[in-house]
Amino acid sequence: MIYSGPAITVQMLDDGIAEFKFDLENESVNKFNRVTLDDLAAATQAVKATPQIKGLLVTSGKSFFIVGADITEFDKVFANGRDYIKDWVMDIHRTFNAFEDLDIPKVVAINGFALGGGLEMCLVNDYRVMSDKAQIGLPELNLGLIPGFGGTVRIARVAGPAKGIEWISTSRPRKAQQALADGVIDEVAPHDELREVSLRALKKAIAGEIDWQAKRAIKLQAVTMPEGDSNDFFSSIRTELSKKINSEQYPASKAFLDVIEESAAMSREQAVEVEANHFADVCVTPQADALIGLFLSDQVIKRIAKKNSANAIEVNKTAVLGAGIMGGGIAYQAVSKGTPTIMKDIGQEQLDLGIAEAEKQLDRQLQKGRLTEDKKAATLAMIQPQLNYDGFNEVDIVIEAVTENIKVKQIVLTEAENEIRDDAILASNTSTISITELAKGLKRPANFVGMHFFNPVPLMPLVEVIRGKESSAAAVSTAVALAVKMGKSPIVVEDCPGFLVNRVLFPYFDAFDLLLKEGACIQKIDQVMEDFGWPMGPAYLSDVIGLDTCVHASDVLAEGFPDRMKPDFKGATKVLFEANRFGQKNGLGFYKYEADESGRKRKAFDQEIKELLAAHVDAADGPGSVEFSAEEIRDRLMLTMCNEVARCIDEKIVSSPDEADMALNMGLGFPKFRGGALRYIDQTGLNEYIALCDRYAHLGKAYEAPQILRDMAAKGETFF
Ligand SMILES: NC(=O)c1ccc[n+]([C@@H]2O[C@H](COP(=O)([O-])OP(=O)(O)OC[C@H]3O[C@@H](n4cnc5c(N)ncnc54)[C@H](O)[C@@H]3O)[C@@H](O)[C@H]2O)c1
Repeated sequence: MIYSGPAITVQMLDDGIAEFKFDLENESVNKFNRVTLDDLAAATQAVKATPQIKGLLVTSGKSFFIVGADITEFDKVFANGRDYIKDWVMDIHRTFNAFEDLDIPKVVAINGFALGGGLEMCLVNDYRVMSDKAQIGLPELNLGLIPGFGGTVRIARVAGPAKGIEWISTSRPRKAQQALADGVIDEVAPHDELREVSLRALKKAIAGEIDWQAKRAIKLQAVTMPEGDSNDFFSSIRTELSKKINSEQYPASKAFLDVIEESAAMSREQAVEVEANHFADVCVTPQADALIGLFLSDQVIKRIAKKNSANAIEVNKTAVLGAGIMGGGIAYQAVSKGTPTIMKDIGQEQLDLGIAEAEKQLDRQLQKGRLTEDKKAATLAMIQPQLNYDGFNEVDIVIEAVTENIKVKQIVLTEAENEIRDDAILASNTSTISITELAKGLKRPANFVGMHFFNPVPLMPLVEVIRGKESSAAAVSTAVALAVKMGKSPIVVEDCPGFLVNRVLFPYFDAFDLLLKEGACIQKIDQVMEDFGWPMGPAYLSDVIGLDTCVHASDVLAEGFPDRMKPDFKGATKVLFEANRFGQKNGLGFYKYEADESGRKRKAFDQEIKELLAAHVDAADGPGSVEFSAEEIRDRLMLTMCNEVARCIDEKIVSSPDEADMALNMGLGFPKFRGGALRYIDQTGLNEYIALCDRYAHLGKAYEAPQILRDMAAKGETFF
């Protein structure tokens, strides 16, 4: 054994070849944590000190190659500030460069995922052989970072600047054939023959049949630019990228391009320092803090879901009641993940619509090449549309998604309960009705739980699992496990009006209505909130949800929380609803909707709104006549939402800040680069945030800082 450490071993094989194996002890995956980085430096020295090694075969002892840097260690490093980070990463560059500069050929056998730092390690090798089952990529932008272990520099030199930019900007992992076509790897091997093929390549390199020195030289010199003016090249790429991603919101999306452009004419030594400078700059941005935080929160909610699934009964068959927008979507989602599903409605026409909706979704998959005709037919056949309760004794769970009316739901749930086995679970997809209340008429209330999917079901990852007062651990567990099986991210919340997501959304809508009453301009509010990062502003969002649905839900919340969600005036949403403007569904809401040439509904300003709202605003010059600053609009809307999230934490409606922020992210589209509501409070600074609440407290209780925030501020605490 030439070297043996906790993460790496180096062992002599035959013919002067040594195997340099990553195999981090006590971990299921390899990652670049402190231990591995230290080991890499030491193992490299050991190789250097062993003249009989003629070539290195670089392998992994795990099923993945290396999954990247250890993100859980970032916090400690980043807390030391920008200059420390630069020194830290320059140190890593010295380690990677020393490995790259070893005077012998190095062939890496990429057996599984090599992401971020994992691919950067592959790039310092001279020749890359990739299993046909592996995937590689540079996903750093997802974390608000740029590849910082030389990846930005090397991929532009190995694959050319255009491909390098494409790989980093899209963040997505690539399969072997794509990686080969893009010039990021040298050879693809059938998975079972990876070692053999890699050894063969290494022997050829040792024998001089593969010019590994030439391959290495490319990485040490300036980028080979495409023909033409390189200023034009970069400026056209910048223009293209700016259409897809906002660099104010995601600074790393500009920083990695800056590295490639600024260092294009430089040698590796100078180029990695440029990379290190930009890397250190992005690490300390609030956006990186938020995006890394979300990544870690996502891991947390996965772990919690696993724990929460512990008491689940096995679900082999489901039934959905109601074949409407939601029932159809839920049935599709269940069968697409392999669970046969009965779909029951009261009319053949509705059943046909539900099936048509599922077929539309499957056709999309077919067009994308993710499905064959046979698979489509087989999946569709797993939905059993019917008008009666035949076969309900065979299902393990029933998800009720009928019309949002407590009486209708109670009748339907009682009927279903009589048809299913005693141990089967009943779930409701209600968006507003109390689960505890719905359970009251049931014989087995312990088997009843809320399962709140979001619209459109195939696209929205969140499922709120609502624990009613009587819901058993098995009922909650089964709902969580089924949501995971359906490819969704469940978050368990306690029963209360609006549950978590709608409870925190409606104070925001109330704040919007109050601004309109004071004479603010609808389009300006939408613009301010879209600039903040929301996918749509509150007016547009109300139209998408449906003003009828908004009014209905807001009545439920007003009843539940009259102290802060019952406005003492008639809001614009209600005024428009009463004028039969229901939003996108009937083409008239806060905006009017007209189909463009391609048939897509486009929103346009509707003059009639001013007349409808004229009698309901305080401003002398009518709706839209009062100028509010962007800050005031932003603060009034965000404070009401964030305050309510803090109250939900205080009341333990949701059990952790990670789950709360993830729920807002997945259920409402809270801007990712801001993390979530609680991280937004942390980043604003608790004292500063409370001062803002105090400024607007005269507007109502929803704007007042909840006690939990004052207590936290007094103790110097934060949510994360
Ligand atoms: N639409 C959304 O955005 C959304 C989002 C989350 C949750 N939800 C909730 O999902 C549920 C369904 O909403 P939707 O938008 O799909 O409504 P929908 O009006 O599109 O569909 C309801 C379906 O239930 C059927 N139905 C009525 N009585 C029935 C009965 N006795 N037995 C079987 N089927 C019956 C109707 O025929 C209709 O097909 C509601 O509770 C709603 O609050 C809706």
